[in-house]
Amino acid sequence: MTSRILILDYGSQYTQLIARRVREARVYSEIHPPTRSIDWIREWNPTGIILSGGPNSVYGENVPTAQAELLDVAPVLGICYGMQLIAQLEGAEVKRAGKREYGPASVRVTTPDSLFAGFSENEEFGAWMSHGDHVESPPEGYVTLAESAANPVTAFRHKSRPIYGVQFHPEVAHTPRGGEIVANFLFGACRADPDWTPGAFVEDEVRRIRKLVGKSRVVCGLSGGVDSAVAAALVHRAIGDQLTCIFVDTGLLRLHERDQVERTFSQHMGMRLVTVDASDRFLAALDGVEDPEEKRKIIGHAFIDVFEETAASEAEGADFLVQGTLYPDVIESSSPFGGPSVTIKTHHNVGGLKAEMTFKLIEPLRELFKDEVRNVGRELGLPDEMVGRHPFPGPGLAIRVLSAVSRAKLDLLRAADAIYLDEIRAAGLYDQIWQAFAVLLPVRSVGVMGDERTYDNVLGLRAVTSSDGMTADWFRFPYEVLARISNRIINQVAGVNRVVYDVSSKPPATIEWE
Ligand code: XMP
Repeated sequence: MTSRILILDYGSQYTQLIARRVREARVYSEIHPPTRSIDWIREWNPTGIILSGGPNSVYGENVPTAQAELLDVAPVLGICYGMQLIAQLEGAEVKRAGKREYGPASVRVTTPDSLFAGFSENEEFGAWMSHGDHVESPPEGYVTLAESAANPVTAFRHKSRPIYGVQFHPEVAHTPRGGEIVANFLFGACRADPDWTPGAFVEDEVRRIRKLVGKSRVVCGLSGGVDSAVAAALVHRAIGDQLTCIFVDTGLLRLHERDQVERTFSQHMGMRLVTVDASDRFLAALDGVEDPEEKRKIIGHAFIDVFEETAASEAEGADFLVQGTLYPDVIESSSPFGGPSVTIKTHHNVGGLKAEMTFKLIEPLRELFKDEVRNVGRELGLPDEMVGRHPFPGPGLAIRVLSAVSRAKLDLLRAADAIYLDEIRAAGLYDQIWQAFAVLLPVRSVGVMGDERTYDNVLGLRAVTSSDGMTADWFRFPYEVLARISNRIINQVAGVNRVVYDVSSKPPATIEWE
């Protein structure tokens, strides 16, 4: 039986990070709302339970809570609000805050315990605080494990039962040794096994997909991106030729993208792949359109039309559709308290079809994060150049031409973008960068070439580091690399006489320019 950790989400912006830390320790976890009944939780059979933080006070009205029996189902770790909830359930007083404590704090281990295995008594470590209320003294039967200047009870546990609470956030990067504390809970208190591996995941999913699909036919849209590639490869592993993949060439792709997809999926993996050249149709629909939202809408609709027509002729009678939805997308659309992250991604999944289709959905990556998806892709034998690819937006180069698109502008951008990425790879920097791309600006400027005065296009270069695309920083290129990139682009791409590099972080800028 695989170990599984149940994370109850009390609304913290960090809940997803808890899941990440648990998975990094190779233990499976899922996030669920705190309204799950005790019977449901028992049935789910957790190896351990983690209660997340949250924005509320346990004394607030209509705030999410927990039933006392929860503490008997499996070992429990309460984080921040989760800790205060345990204190309240166990009859201790939670002190209402005059003000919030937010930021780094120094925490001292006062009592050696398995939760702090690897820490010595009195050892101080850096921890991230973000709370209002706090626990003033531990509930009866509990002992204090750690303290900080502002919190006499920064961590506690029950004397004999495996129930723990921490006031700080072990899941965030600002608590450098937080991963160790989470692992101590998993392998100490819960006795979990680190059995969550890409291989085990593939085996489970293959079995599940076979059972779900039976003899039906399945379609999958490939975008050239990592997520749909891995989803398709996984489903193909399960049901072989019952799967038909459709790749729509929108004319808005990067250089050689279509060849790469055909080589990988058709030749290398032996999948049934149908490629549709719909570039004329997309370019005609986009003719004269400047507004990026309008472009997105047009592309989204055209994509759905082309996909459905192709599915009807090439995969007649298919019952299922594969989508490369990832865990962050699922969480963002189902967070029980609708935190600030909820609306961020609505426009980011043009590659997917709407819910009104007649297909049933297969979303085999629904529970994974991007880096886990990459590992599963490697496990399935997808080539590194595909699995390690930078993300690429569904509307493609259309939102990187900052004016109405035309074939000529797209060709120019494609050529410059390819040189840019080529030089980044040659410098060995590709894997350090989350995303790098060129943007064709709607600006022309004066230059000289030989004896001639030119009046040509300005090209913007963007490269960012990021862990999830939500925030990003601009990448610090060595100057020589930038110099090589700029020289090659200006010399080799007719129509460009000036290159600029974008040094904005997100926020306040976004990654794409649109
Ligand atoms: P922004 O520009 O919002 O981008 O900082 C964050 C991430 O999302 C990608 N992106 C898109 N992906 N359709 C997509 O599939 C879109 O319309 C879209 N817009 C932005 C962007 O490339 C980055 O990885």
